[in-house]
Amino acid sequence: MQQEQTFVMVKPDGVRRGLVGAVIVRFEQKGFKLAAIELRTIDRALAERHYGDLRTKPFFSELVDYLTSGPVCAMIWQGEHAVENARSLIGKTNPAEASPGTIRGDFAMDIAGNIVHGSDSAASAAREIELFFGRHAASHPLDLFAGDEV
Ligand code: TYD
Repeated sequence: MQQEQTFVMVKPDGVRRGLVGAVIVRFEQKGFKLAAIELRTIDRALAERHYGDLRTKPFFSELVDYLTSGPVCAMIWQGEHAVENARSLIGKTNPAEASPGTIRGDFAMDIAGNIVHGSDSAASAAREIELFFGRHAASHPLDLFAGDEV
């Protein structure tokens, strides 16, 4: 079974609304394994690096304001095709278009407050994991659950 890791973050509105548990439950129920978790308030420099590819977008500075407005819950989730499976659990970027049953479809109304982030590719996952958890996390924990029968 090809194990992969992805970076998932409950954004400040999700933490404020008490949705960290609901997000974790969905990932665990799907079959993901939690490999790392940290609640922290991030500074503008980290938020700008995280969303670096959106730097030229008109909503960029609002996005950085939003991401730095309170603590986020940063997580590494591991499993088969983790990037793709996480994106399908999370749902479309705009909650108005996200299907019911997805996290954004069930818990959010507005694109500027869509609760949760999930990496959009294996390369983004590696970059984001290193950004939030450091080089060690990015290069090591794939064998964390070696031997598990799940
Ligand atoms: P993006 O990486 O395109 O989406 P996703 O989070 O699904 O990977 O955009 C990053 C975040 O930027 C998105 O979660 C919400 C915000 N955003 C806006 O506020 N307005 C927009 O028009 C878009 C496209 C995104």
